[in-house]
Amino acid sequence: MALLETFDITKTFGDHQVLRGVDFRIEPGQVVAVIGPSGGGKSTFLRCLNLLETPTSGRVVFTGEELEPKKSNLDKLRARMGMVFQQFNLFPHMTALRNVVLPQMNVLGLTREEAERKGRALLDRVGMLGRADVYPNRLSGGQKQRVAIARAIAMDPELMLFDEPTSALDPEVVHDVLDIMTDLARDGMTMIVVTHEMGFARRVADRVVFIDDGRIAADLPPEEFFSEHNGNERIRTFLAKVL
Ligand SMILES: Nc1ncnc2c1ncn2[C@@H]1O[C@H](COP(=O)(O)OP(=O)(O)OP(=O)(O)O)[C@@H](O)[C@H]1O
Ligand SMILES: [Mg+2]
Repeated sequence: MALLETFDITKTFGDHQVLRGVDFRIEPGQVVAVIGPSGGGKSTFLRCLNLLETPTSGRVVFTGEELEPKKSNLDKLRARMGMVFQQFNLFPHMTALRNVVLPQMNVLGLTREEAERKGRALLDRVGMLGRADVYPNRLSGGQKQRVAIARAIAMDPELMLFDEPTSALDPEVVHDVLDIMTDLARDGMTMIVVTHEMGFARRVADRVVFIDDGRIAADLPPEEFFSEHNGNERIRTFLAKVL
């Protein structure tokens, strides 16, 4: 069974149709890299999966259940589908540890002691235990992103959504964050990753999905996607620009 499946999702903002019928599925344990030109609808697609945006039409089925914006418990849903953004979105008035601890208490109902134990273990895992008591404005971009990943995985999500998690980072720390994501993938986490890091897509992803003009224009294993024999003109033009 697919962990998540979408059926003909569309999304329109005003008179601008951003998603034009997206059918997608991901199996447990798979890593899907989503790439494509700017404005093609990658972020909108990701945001439709956890109902940060409501699709205009179409269905999203997660663990066999159709997501219904009005009926869903959005906090619980978003805990089950952890999301990491380009801009970190940490709570600025809380320390790194508190950022990781509070959602576990509020959403999962853990005691403070349990949440702190798990929080410290996860900060350690992302190499941030030494900065547990620091506020986000004293952390570098790479450090913030590592805390954001710890916060998301603290919820034991069934699926992780990443939207360009390294795009705002200095080049020298991009690898730290990609390494953490690679570890997560190797540990069996199911992940959808919007990224411009073609090396990561090639090495870590099971499939590369190319979204262009609101549609999935290709959905291929990386070796095929990146092969020079790929017949799709749009993909070749895109790859020529980013590689
Ligand atoms: N809330 C919104 N209201 C109106 N238009 C929007 C909204 N969100 C996105 N759009 C438009 O939808 C289109 C697709 O945007 P989206 O952010 O999904 O693209 P993207 O593929 O993620 O691009 P990028 O690579 O630049 O992040 C763009 O034209 C954008 O301006
Ligand atoms: Mg985007």
